[in-house]
Amino acid sequence: MRKVMYNQFGDESVLELIEQAVPSIQDDQLLIRVKAVSINPLDWKIYGGAMKLMSGTTFPKSVGIDFSGVVEQAGITVSRFKTGDAIIGLLDVFKGGALADYIVVKETDIAPKPTNLSFEEAAALPVTGLSALQIIDQLAKVGANQDVLINGATGGIGVFAVQIAKKRGARVTAVVSTKGVAEAKRWGADTVIDYTRQDSKLLGQTFDAVIDLSTKLSFTEAKNLMKRKAIFVSTLPSPLTLLHSFINNLFSGQKLTILILKPTVDGFNTLTHLAEAGLQIVLDKTYSFTNVREAYREARQGKLIGKSVIVLD
Ligand SMILES: NC(=O)c1ccc[n+]([C@@H]2O[C@H](COP(=O)([O-])OP(=O)(O)OC[C@H]3O[C@@H](n4cnc5c(N)ncnc54)[C@H](OP(=O)(O)O)[C@@H]3O)[C@@H](O)[C@H]2O)c1
Repeated sequence: MRKVMYNQFGDESVLELIEQAVPSIQDDQLLIRVKAVSINPLDWKIYGGAMKLMSGTTFPKSVGIDFSGVVEQAGITVSRFKTGDAIIGLLDVFKGGALADYIVVKETDIAPKPTNLSFEEAAALPVTGLSALQIIDQLAKVGANQDVLINGATGGIGVFAVQIAKKRGARVTAVVSTKGVAEAKRWGADTVIDYTRQDSKLLGQTFDAVIDLSTKLSFTEAKNLMKRKAIFVSTLPSPLTLLHSFINNLFSGQKLTILILKPTVDGFNTLTHLAEAGLQIVLDKTYSFTNVREAYREARQGKLIGKSVIVLD
């Protein structure tokens, strides 16, 4: 079978398509025939060496976190899935390995594929969908009639965050580049700010939650946009920001919270219900397995709407 691996940190040129034996499974594991794998900014942060503390420095390493596929074989103690089931799933973020014809997973890594989605669309759901749910429901605790600002609203997480915040009854202001203005309106944003024309830090309005998906807005800058009691969500965990958040949150009504994605079976179930109830999945581009380097290079350059997906044939 084919698998993408790398033996040193670097840009996309380090990614190699290699041949390997199909792995075997233990009693509590499943063998998945992978159909599609989504591209996440975490991928290039890891193979670029920016997250060595978490990923470690031993090689070879693998790429690809979330995927869709079909159960090829199920171990004898597996109870929730059987051969032939269509699934979505998510591997350990820092180990990756989904970019392969076959992968081995545990039951808790996967969920049934929403029936209304293609394999390409379904692969785009796990990392960004679960992140959006965690941000809206657990970190920002978005509720009816709240004012929410989503900075970076047309990226992978943003597409879902806008739609879920609207479902929770919030008034959503989406900050996007020019290309995304019409899209963000289409997903339900009440106000859309084009950050190439207007400085979103100077809106003169305050929000109950400010969610930064761009990594360009700091907590200090965001304070001008926050009500006296409000929440800022960052997607950049580091020992320093975690310490900052702990100390800040003891004394201030303006709270700093940081996303550390924790996939759960409940989260997967909520996501499946949302998808089957019409959550829009936005695929910017799809690539074949042999164009992996090009796929990551283009995604890393940004300016995409939604997600890019690599399709295995
Ligand atoms: N901590 C965790 O557990 C965790 C989990 C998942 C993801 N993440 C991180 O969360 C972040 C968001 O993920 P994602 O998948 O949504 O990334 P993404 O698809 O790259 O989206 C980022 C968005 O930010 C926008 N942006 C860039 N510059 C901006 C600016 N100056 N002002 C406003 N918006 C700007 C981009 O729009 P344009 O391209 O149009 O400029 C893009 O839509 C990434 O850094 C990712 O690594 C963290």
